[in-house]
Amino acid sequence: MSEGAAKKGVGEKPQPKEERRKFQAIKGTRDLLPQETALWNHVEQIAQEVFGAFGHSEIRVPIFEASDLFARSIGAETDVVSKEMYTFEDRDETSVSLRPEATASICRAYIENGMQQLPQPVKLYTIGPMFRRERPQKGRYRQFYQIDAEILGGSDAPGIDAELIEMVTAFFERLGLEGVQLDINCIGDKKCRPKYVELLRAELAKVKEKLGPDSQRRIETNPLRVLDSKLESEQKIIEGMPHIANHLCEECAENYRGVKKELELRGVKYQENWRLVRGLDYYSRTTFEITAKGLGSQNAVCGGGRYDGLMELLGGPPTRATGFAIGEDRLILSLQETGKTPTAQGRDVYIAWMGEKAYATAIRAAKNLRAAGLSVELPPVEQKFGKALGQADKLGARYALILGDNEVASGEWTLKTLASGEQAKFTEQHLLDFLRSERAKADPSGLKA
Ligand code: HAM
Repeated sequence: MSEGAAKKGVGEKPQPKEERRKFQAIKGTRDLLPQETALWNHVEQIAQEVFGAFGHSEIRVPIFEASDLFARSIGAETDVVSKEMYTFEDRDETSVSLRPEATASICRAYIENGMQQLPQPVKLYTIGPMFRRERPQKGRYRQFYQIDAEILGGSDAPGIDAELIEMVTAFFERLGLEGVQLDINCIGDKKCRPKYVELLRAELAKVKEKLGPDSQRRIETNPLRVLDSKLESEQKIIEGMPHIANHLCEECAENYRGVKKELELRGVKYQENWRLVRGLDYYSRTTFEITAKGLGSQNAVCGGGRYDGLMELLGGPPTRATGFAIGEDRLILSLQETGKTPTAQGRDVYIAWMGEKAYATAIRAAKNLRAAGLSVELPPVEQKFGKALGQADKLGARYALILGDNEVASGEWTLKTLASGEQAKFTEQHLLDFLRSERAKADPSGLKA
C-alpha cells in the first residue's frame, strides 16, 4: 500500500479538513472529578449503611419512562412536568421522558413486580441522576442526583412517617451536616384539602390585583403553590391567608398530632411551617423539607412526605406510602462549604524499582499488596531512585518500597515512610503484615473534621 493510500484509507474520498471543535459539558450538567468523587462515594456508602440499619433495601429503576407516568403522578400542571421534563418521541412514537424524580418509577415498579405480595411495608431506596430543565445556578442543575427512600404499603401509623424522618436526620448527623433545619406540615387528604383549597382560592381572589403574575395564574391552577411564593411584595398578603391546620378533618389532625408526638419521642427537632406545600401534586398529610448551611437560595437539601393516593392513580391497589429525596449535589455542597471533605486519597505504596530482576519482584509485590486492599503504584518503566521518590511524593504516597538488586538478592526489602524519611528493612511476609496492620489503623470514616 502506498503511503498516501494508507493515510486516506483505500477507496475513501479525501476528507475536508476537520473543523476543530472543543466540546463542553451541556449547560446544567457537570463532571465530578476524582477529588470530589471520594466524598460522593463516602456519602453514598453512609446512606447505604444508615438506610440498611432502618431496613431499607436498594432498588434501581430506569432512567427513562413513559411520559404519562410522570404527568399522572407529579401532575400535568406542575412546573416539573409542564416546563422541566426532557421529553422525546421514541422510534415507535411513544413519548418518553428522562426521569425528573424517582417516586413515580418506584411506585410503578411496586405495582408491576407485585410487591404488594411481600410483607408490608416495603422499604426501598435508590441513588442516581434525575433530570429537570431548570435555570442552572449554585445547587441547581439540569442533571442532578438524588438519594431517595420510600416506604410503601403498611398503615398510616404516625410511627412510619416519624421513623422515615428520623432516618434522614440520623444520616445527616452521621455525615456531620451543619445547620440542619426540619420543617413539617400537614396538607390534609382528599377529604379535607379540596375544601381548604376552595377557601384559599376565594381569599386569594379577593387580593388578586396585589399579587404578581405567577401567583395570579396559580389562583386558578394551584392556589396552594401561592403559599410557596418568595416574592417580597406578596409576603404580607400571604401571611393573612387561612392556615390549613384549622381546616383539617379530624383523621388528618389526629394523624398529624401523632407524627409530632412520635418525632418528639425520637428526639427529632422540627419546626411547623404552614406554608410548606411542596411542588409535586401527589402529597397528602405530613410533608417535610430540610434545609442546611452554606447553600444560598437553593437550600432545600431534602423534601418528602406522604402520598397515600398515588398508587391507585397509577392503577395499583390502595396503598399507603411515604418517602423523601435528598438532593445529593446540595448535600455535598453543604459538606464542602463546612469543610467536611475527605482526606485526599493518595496511594499507600509507590514501588521504586531498578533492574530486571527487581521488576519481576515488584510485580509480585504489587499483586500481593493490592490483594490485601492497599493502593499501589507500580511504574511501568525503570526510573532512577531519586526520580521515583519524587514521583511518589507528588502522588501523595505514604510509603515507597525500594527494590533494587541488593534487596532482591538479600530478600530484605526497604520501606521508606515518605513523611518522616525513615527507612526500615522487611522480609516480604513481614512487609505485608506490617502494611496490612497500618491500613487497618487508618481512619475508617475517611473524613476529616
Ligand atoms: P423534590 O422536592 O422535587 O422532591 O426534590 C427533592 C430534592 O432534590 C430537593 O430538596 C433538592 O435538594 C433536590 N433537587 C431538586 N431539583 C434539583 C435540581 N434541579 N438541582 C439540584 N438538586 C435538586 C422529589 O423529588 C420527591 N420525589 C421526593 C419524594 C420522595 N417524596 C416522596 N418520596
